[in-house]
Amino acid sequence: MFDPYSVRKDFPILERKVNGHDIIYFDNAATSQKPLQVIDAVKNFYKKYNANVHRGLHKLSQEASELYEDAHFEVAKFINANSIEEIVFTKNTTEAINLIAYSWALHKLGEEDEVLTTLMEHHSNIVPWEILSKIKGFKVKYADIKEDGALDYESLENLVTQKTKLITVTHASNVTGAINDISKIAKLAHENNAVLVVDGAQSVPHMPLDVKRLDLDFLAFSGHKMLAPTGIGVLYAKRELLENMEPFIGGGDMIRSVKYDKVKGCMIEWHTLPWKFEAGTPNVGSAIGLAEAIRYLNKLGMENVQQHERQLTQYALKLLQEDNNISIYGPKNVSTKCGIVSFNIKGMDYHDVALFLDDFGIMVRSGYHCAEPLHQRLGLNGSVRASFYIYNTKEEIERFVETLKEIENVR
Ligand code: ALA
Repeated sequence: MFDPYSVRKDFPILERKVNGHDIIYFDNAATSQKPLQVIDAVKNFYKKYNANVHRGLHKLSQEASELYEDAHFEVAKFINANSIEEIVFTKNTTEAINLIAYSWALHKLGEEDEVLTTLMEHHSNIVPWEILSKIKGFKVKYADIKEDGALDYESLENLVTQKTKLITVTHASNVTGAINDISKIAKLAHENNAVLVVDGAQSVPHMPLDVKRLDLDFLAFSGHKMLAPTGIGVLYAKRELLENMEPFIGGGDMIRSVKYDKVKGCMIEWHTLPWKFEAGTPNVGSAIGLAEAIRYLNKLGMENVQQHERQLTQYALKLLQEDNNISIYGPKNVSTKCGIVSFNIKGMDYHDVALFLDDFGIMVRSGYHCAEPLHQRLGLNGSVRASFYIYNTKEEIERFVETLKEIENVR
């Protein structure tokens, strides 16, 4: 039985008070809180095992390397990748998407080509493609969204041409919570010989995800949104893609050999996968934290996590919809939406609402949430966003909605 009240006991930060109130943490789409199990795993690593990985023959380095590699195994199992060769650790989702841009697109795309994305993307899935398009001359095209923020599949299909070499979409919007039908988009991409990139930042932490079932080519996500520390992210890619890609960042540990030749200079042989893409000393402590976070989520069961968030979202939507002063953005059906609710109070500035909520110890995000084109398309200057996770409860949603009513009364 999934019990958020017992889950809460693992999160010491939830015992804090802010402005005299018990905190309500509804900013989970920005980053999640961390359970004691993860905090202890990281602490334990630094207390007992700390050493650089893949570089020392001594005991500590051997143990640290083993733990670091195990973390790759944990991630591979979690998303059903074939092996750790398909799991590259990055800093975060943004770095993983940039890795695809600079290791794949930089070498494979030219002036004749097109990258297809959507208007519902986070800036992390827009800006790298726009930067690279200025260098390589390819075109970036944007599929439209509907009034409720859901992807307009017809628009996406209509924009695919023979020039489309890469389709990149978010799995779930960080503003509206709209979940995209990734199997359908994978089919569209592959029928047209394009590769598919999926931004899983808002989906991997919240629902079961199987890269093979969805037939993903690339998947990017962050550890810090799924109970792990900051500074660790993941790029999943099909092995044959990684094998045929150039490294993103050069340096130590990503090479097998660097041989100096008086005439030719240094001749370099890349390391095996996934190390070819992990140059420099990695964030070992956070990787170990990510492995522990995954073990924690596995114990809860990702189906239960999703189910809990759906119940919370349904309840939040029901209560918020009863208030005529509130405009809610995004789909209203929780089977096509993750645990994110964005809204505005009529006549009130979104930042003011967030600051009022903070006075009552309630933490939300306000503004564009790094998704300005989406807001522009919906005719908005910004919004207030509440996003839920495993430790949130129905009682917190009730206090949140009651507080919004108080805010409306004092404006
Ligand atoms: N991508 C994170 C958000 O949506 C930071 O808030």
